[in-house]
Amino acid sequence: MYVKPHNTMKTKSPLPIYSSQSQLIPDDKLLTQPSDINIKKQFQRNVYIETYGCQMNVSDSELMTGILTQAGHRTVSDIDDADVILLNTCAIRENAETKVINRLEHLNHKKRREGNLIIGVCGCMAQHLRDKILDAAPYVDLVMGPDAYRNLPMALNAVVSGDPFLGLQLDKSEDYADIAPIRKEGIRAWLTIQRGCDKMCTFCIVPFVRGRERSIPLKILTDDVKRLVEEGFKEIVLLGQTVNSYHDGNHDFGELLWSIAEVDGVERVRFTSPHPADATDSMIDAMENCPEVCNQLHLPLQSGSTQVLQRMRRTYTAEQYRELVSKIRDKIPQIAISTDVIVGFCEETEKDFKQTYELMEEIRFDSAFMFKYSDRDGTLANKMLPDDVPEKEKAKRLNEIINLQEKISGEINQSKIGTTVPVLIEGDSRRNADQYHGKTDTFKTTVFPKEETQVGDIVNVKIHSATAHTLIGDIVR
Ligand code: 5AD
Repeated sequence: MYVKPHNTMKTKSPLPIYSSQSQLIPDDKLLTQPSDINIKKQFQRNVYIETYGCQMNVSDSELMTGILTQAGHRTVSDIDDADVILLNTCAIRENAETKVINRLEHLNHKKRREGNLIIGVCGCMAQHLRDKILDAAPYVDLVMGPDAYRNLPMALNAVVSGDPFLGLQLDKSEDYADIAPIRKEGIRAWLTIQRGCDKMCTFCIVPFVRGRERSIPLKILTDDVKRLVEEGFKEIVLLGQTVNSYHDGNHDFGELLWSIAEVDGVERVRFTSPHPADATDSMIDAMENCPEVCNQLHLPLQSGSTQVLQRMRRTYTAEQYRELVSKIRDKIPQIAISTDVIVGFCEETEKDFKQTYELMEEIRFDSAFMFKYSDRDGTLANKMLPDDVPEKEKAKRLNEIINLQEKISGEINQSKIGTTVPVLIEGDSRRNADQYHGKTDTFKTTVFPKEETQVGDIVNVKIHSATAHTLIGDIVR
């Protein structure tokens, strides 16, 4: 979906839209001119960013690092070196927010001990709870949603005066396309191609905390990828809330996949998370015919009951999902498909749940992320549907599908024993420094003795054993 004509050199006003509790900062306190070295020195801060939730948040933390660094601040990897701690948070389920509240209490003790510590809550939970965060944690200095990161340098100056800073305006034109994120070194780079979501699934808080969908123009993205290859990245993972609904006005997601894969030096391209309703022939064609696009697809199912899918407003039936998977597997037989499933959604009956269980048994996903439904304030389900499956029943259903999926994942991995798979080496194995770990093209973690290879190489590994989560083998030449 096309959202706006793009302007690479953004001329945004440095002033945010202020909410009731925030304050206006005189221009001379703004830290938006990186050339102003004296101001930089005076205000330079050591910022520690702690990231919660999905890969999109990891990518946003890299963006925040870029913004802060450009304004003369430093990010630090040891929390004890920090005078600013920013939590980049998630709101998808209640326990994600509970975790952050607990963390904040811990940080409050640190702040009391150390005095001048600035604590900020950024990201989806900030946008979701807004100034309620300050009721629960009055020692928080800064609350900032995902579309306000451009104002971070200014906010750090503003909080010096003691009042909290709120940056909570969602902005459909904000895509941060002109800002260079600062990434950790490695072989895999995450590249945000689209922000926001227009899907309005009834269970989901994302559209309310990340706003409407917007896509970054293809030319900017391919230029980004050229730079990433120069920096040494081998694998590019395209990110978006519904990544395959990407459209920049001229190019759809399939065209983008081709363009990214054609950049010289790109070894592998992946993407997450797509929506089944946007799994077009253009996308499937690129996956089938473009060698750099990996044989891996994360395709969130959510439920195997068409009635539940309708209440979720997923816009497809169980049958359509099943047909989509068959079509993709017909074209790309070696593909690994993973999924997301929610159990205990509003009014989910034993029969609905059984349909989910049976569809998972039938499709045999390579892996799955499985969740109990968590009622989120502000969602359509929260307003319209009863959260009426008892907690105990939710837990029981979740357990059943986890056990099923473990068994299936184990069996699928066992079936790889004796095969030889190409693995992109990522680093030392966590358990044994004489071994490397890496991913197959199908995104399976593989562990093997190092031999004469190095991180970033793609090696052929012959699998001799497997668990539900790992393939184990030896390099063959
Ligand atoms: N409760 C439980 N799980 C949820 N998800 C999204 N919203 C909720 C919720 N309210 C799950 C979906 C989605 C994944 C990222 O999180 O399965 O695909």
